[in-house]
Amino acid sequence: MSQKSVVLSGMRSTGPLHLGNYFGAVRNWVGLQDRYECYYFAADWHALTTDYADTSQIAENTLQVVADWIASGLDPERSVIFVQSMVPEHAELHLLLSMIMPLGLLERVPTYKEQIREIKNKDLSTYGFLGYPLLQSADILLYRAHLVPVGEDQASHLELSREVARKFNRYYGKVFPEPKALFTPTPRVPGIDGRKMSKSYDNAIYLADTEEEIRAKASKMFTDPTRVRRKDPGHPETCNLYDFHKLVSPPELLEKVARECRLAQIGCVDDKKLIAEQLVEFLTPIRERREALIADRDTLLDIVTEGSRKARERARETMDAVRSSMTLDYREILAKVTR
Ligand code: TRP
Repeated sequence: MSQKSVVLSGMRSTGPLHLGNYFGAVRNWVGLQDRYECYYFAADWHALTTDYADTSQIAENTLQVVADWIASGLDPERSVIFVQSMVPEHAELHLLLSMIMPLGLLERVPTYKEQIREIKNKDLSTYGFLGYPLLQSADILLYRAHLVPVGEDQASHLELSREVARKFNRYYGKVFPEPKALFTPTPRVPGIDGRKMSKSYDNAIYLADTEEEIRAKASKMFTDPTRVRRKDPGHPETCNLYDFHKLVSPPELLEKVARECRLAQIGCVDDKKLIAEQLVEFLTPIRERREALIADRDTLLDIVTEGSRKARERARETMDAVRSSMTLDYREILAKVTR
């Protein structure tokens, strides 16, 4: 038995990953692999909560996400990499937890209220969508996870999972540790238009982007709006382009660009060429690894099948304890009756 704390996190598999996903999550996950017993999964059922009307892309997206993870450094030898729907125990625990979950708590979750308000092109008044954070609680509790690396936007979901764990333990006996969020510091990752990088804003640079795509996107990057003419001094501290440098450029270049920009020795067009070079250098090895994985789907499928088998071992142990503490374990009950 491993003495290490258990780390678990997941991502909705809604499509290929961009730099925001990389610097906001995956890079942190990679860094946790040696210190903890790590479980990372593609939340394909969570993708269904909003994409139920057209399910045709979900399996494909799941494979794309997993390829992005492995290309970014998640290692199937050191971490358990799996797919939510390949471990049906998530559904069983979700159902059992739903019995003790007060509706009011779900209706008050801020992300739920916000999405109901903001997303108008889909009907989200479904049972499944309301239950999104409870399914997430089941994901976490199923592995009796101690630490859950997530972004700040997930704070309310983590709070809910702690609440559910306490409730369950109060009713049926202590089965679950209370999971803690691991809010890892993440840099600002702007999109090429200066807003937060997001698939839905159409401003993202993807791990799968080719050299040409990266160069084309870099050439369109939004720069310091107060620098109107080439001879005007720039302001790297507020420039969107400089935020990209902070993500991928070595310290010498960072320093040089900042100095020369402030002195108007380089212009924004020059700087776009510099950042394109850095992004290409950073992303090319990742893209090559992901292409190799996508080209060999059988191996990719083997990796998630094996990961899901390992995940299921821990999930089954948890469900045995859950059924037993809820006196739903028929074999145990039968043994008592016949004695
Ligand atoms: N809700 C998370 C997100 O949008 C994804 C997720 C699903 C998750 N299940 C999880 C994250 C369990 C951590 C643990 O990013």
